[in-house]
This record gives sequence, C-alpha cells and structure tokens, in this order.
Amino acid sequence: MEQNAVQKEAQHLAHGNGNGHVEVNNWAQPGPAAFDFRSDVVTTPTSRMLNAIAATSLLDDVFQDDPTTNKLESFIADLTGKEAALLVLSGTMGNQVAIRTQLLAPPHSVVTDYRSHIMEWEAGGVASLCGALVKPVIPRNGRYVTLEDVKKHTVISSDIHSCPTKLISLENTLAGIILPLAECQKISAWARENGILMHLDGARLWEAVAAGAGSLKEYCDCFDSISLCFSKGLGAPIGSIIVGDKTFRERARWVRKSIGGGLRQAGVVTAAAQVAVEDTFLGGKLKACHDRARQISELWQSYGGEIENPVETNMVWFDLEAAGMTSEKFIEEGEKAGLRLLGGRLVVHYQIGDEAVSRLETLMQAVFKGKKLNGSVEIPAEKMQFPTE
Ligand SMILES: Cc1ncc(COP(=O)(O)O)c(C=O)c1O
Repeated sequence: MEQNAVQKEAQHLAHGNGNGHVEVNNWAQPGPAAFDFRSDVVTTPTSRMLNAIAATSLLDDVFQDDPTTNKLESFIADLTGKEAALLVLSGTMGNQVAIRTQLLAPPHSVVTDYRSHIMEWEAGGVASLCGALVKPVIPRNGRYVTLEDVKKHTVISSDIHSCPTKLISLENTLAGIILPLAECQKISAWARENGILMHLDGARLWEAVAAGAGSLKEYCDCFDSISLCFSKGLGAPIGSIIVGDKTFRERARWVRKSIGGGLRQAGVVTAAAQVAVEDTFLGGKLKACHDRARQISELWQSYGGEIENPVETNMVWFDLEAAGMTSEKFIEEGEKAGLRLLGGRLVVHYQIGDEAVSRLETLMQAVFKGKKLNGSVEIPAEKMQFPTE
C-alpha cells in the first residue's frame, strides 16, 4: 500500500548541511503532533526549549548543584504554594515516589478513583513498591469522587482484621473531568481530621486551573503531595515534578534515588520544562485547547454523535458504539483522513490547529454519512506551516 498521509507527515524535517549542523530541525514546527489526537504527550518540544537546553547549566543534580534545576524547583514550589519541589522523570515516577514517600510500613491502604492512573496504568506500582492495598472508588455521580464516596471506602479502625487507610490519592483532571475545588477541600478537611494523608496526581492540574476551577495554590493546599507533569499539555520533552513540605522532599530524594531517578546534568531536562510552564501554562495557551475541544464535541453531536463525558478541559469522548463504530475501525478511518487516534477519546493539545479539526470533520462524514476516505490527504503547503513560537 502507498505510504499514507500520517506516515508521510511523520517524516519530520531534518536537513543537515553535511557538517553535522542541522539547519531546519524538528523543534521548529509541531510536525505530526498537529494531527495527533492520541494524547497531549505527543506535543513536539519547541525551538525556545531547544535554545534553553543549549544555554542550560550543566551541573550535577544528585549533588543539588545545578542552578537551572534548583531554579525550576523553587519556581514550582512558589507557584504551588508549597515549601519544596523535586524533579522526577515522568508522571508515573512522580506518583510512585510521592506515594512511597508518604506511606511507611504495611498494613496500609490507599483509597483512589477506580479509573485513576495509579490504579490502572502504573504497573501496580503502589502494590509492589509500597505493599499497599489499593481500594478503588466508583464515583456515584459518574464524574468525580465526593467525600461521601471516599468515606465509604476509607478504613479508620484499629481492628486487626482491617487494612487502615493511610492515604487518599485523587486525580485532577481525570479523563478531562475537573474535580471541583470545593469537593477537594471537603475531602481534605475530613482526611486531615482523621490523620489520613492526601496525594494528588496533578499531571493535568494545569488544565483544571486554566479552565478557571481554582488556582494552583488553592488546589495544592488540599494535599500533602502533588505530582505535576511538564511533558503533557505543556509540551516539554521530558519531566514531572512533585511538591510538598521540606520533610517530604528530603525523603522523596531518597526514594527517587532508590529507583534510579537521581539525575546528573538535569539542566537538560529542567531548562525545557521551565520554558514549557512559562510559555504554555503562564502564556495562556491551554484555554484555547478547551474551546477547540468543545468545538469538536459540538461538531460530533451536530452529526448525530453522542459523547460519553462532558467536555470540561482538553478531552473529548466520542461514543463510538452509539455511532456503530469499533475503536479499530475508527482508528483506521482516522489514518485515511490523515489523523492519529487512539479510539473514542480525543485529546486536544495546543499544537492541534484548524486543519486537524477540518480533517476530523471529514472523518465524521465518513462515520455518519458513509463518505469514502481514500487515504490521500492533500495539504496545501501553507497549512503545514505551524511555527511553534
Ligand atoms: C493522569 C496521569 N497521571 C500520570 C501519568 C503518567 O505520566 P508518564 O507517562 O509521564 O509516566 C499520566 C500519563 O498519561 C496520566 O494521564
């Protein structure tokens, strides 16, 4: 079969001059990320990030010598209103290091949403690294966990048959849905009354804040530890950070080292992460993604489609079954329209532009009107110019 549009676009630019010097490089444009709805992790790092990496300090972060890394950590601690922050390599590492830091010895249990990343997508890390029982909560409202839900699953007992809850781990956003600040505050107040620690998987807390649900400080105030990702909607190539008090950070450094997460010339990671926070989050680029997500959801519904979750931030959930589609078929048709999809969940990031939405509409015409897609997507050259600056 002829190479399809998605693969063609995946041939990213890289023109060398023969001396090892790259004149046009992959950092200057989103490239295939502009048509990739699989996740916001696919965002292409920018030229400003590359320049920051080129100019970064190159000292050792295990010795805590690196000024770029130290600066990022205090910048995030200030932004979140916490005493201290610690760089980690990924969102998974952030959650796992934070939870391992908070929990001491079994028997202990962690209460969390049944859909949460720590429950479903972290290779059972909480069980293997902490020996903890993870107790999944199904939210009664179908959207986010409430204090009532949490109370039902939390064990506060000295009965030796029970497994006492030592940590409540929440996620915000989860499936693009916002955990309202007021609910967070209620859960937190009750947990603290009962001596239970609070952790937040805030990989996408930036999105909830950009949507106006509360400030970073207000949300972080509800938790003893929070993990935030730089490499999702913010667009950095690598990195996450955990925040908490100084004692938390001290122990977390220990735990991070034990799993091989102590970095040497960490400025290579933190220089780009600093730009990601400044340009994408503080630069106000996330809100436009939410508007585009709503536009996509409305477009789908205008063709008679149904959605599985309300659009509150940057995720749209198409009900494929109701549209008579399997996930596999939808992905296949998406490829023919020049899009990369993972199934009915579409994640809108800041490098998704009008052209991707118009291809999506072509795909919707195939789904609902039987339009045939032949796999050749003609893209006028000017539509392929997406400077990242
Ligand atoms: C909510 C949430 N938490 C944590 C992670 C883990 O991040 P990473 O892939 O950087 O390990 C993800 C990844 O998509 C996520 O969606």
